[in-house]
Amino acid sequence: MNITLTVNGRAYGLDVEPRRVLGDVLREECGLTGTHLGCEQGVCGACTVVVDGGAVRSCLMLAVQCDGRSVRTVEGLAGPGGEPHPLQSAFSAEHALQCGFCTPGFLMLAAAALESDPAIAGDPERLRELLTSNLCRCTGYEPIRRAIVRAAVRP
Ligand code: FES
Ligand code: FES
Repeated sequence: MNITLTVNGRAYGLDVEPRRVLGDVLREECGLTGTHLGCEQGVCGACTVVVDGGAVRSCLMLAVQCDGRSVRTVEGLAGPGGEPHPLQSAFSAEHALQCGFCTPGFLMLAAAALESDPAIAGDPERLRELLTSNLCRCTGYEPIRRAIVRAAVRP
């Protein structure tokens, strides 16, 4: 099936089987391997990307469902000159990653949340609830929480 995905502002004309999930197509057809696939069943959140402004699990969404839609991946976070996104700087400053496998998913989850609802960074309860969406097996969640608050305060 022929589809057009706009990923990080670039249009990709693709011929994909209807059964293929967005995460695989981003990695294998678009060459955007920053999106990581862990559980592939909607549990870990490592595969989180942003579709039309909302965070989605790219292992659960079919690529054909994204035809004509706008997708943002971790490769699209940095600025036009390659400068890190405030979340990327804050994750580094707060040591919010170790192996980094979960990091693209947390970054995209946080980017979508801060853009649609900046007040979430100042609401510990809702921020904690947001972070329960994704799993990290190295760092623990406190540095990740601090990094998101830091990015919101110093955009
Ligand atoms: S790989 Fe998608 S939720 Fe784990
Ligand atoms: S930094 Fe390793 S799983 Fe999160």
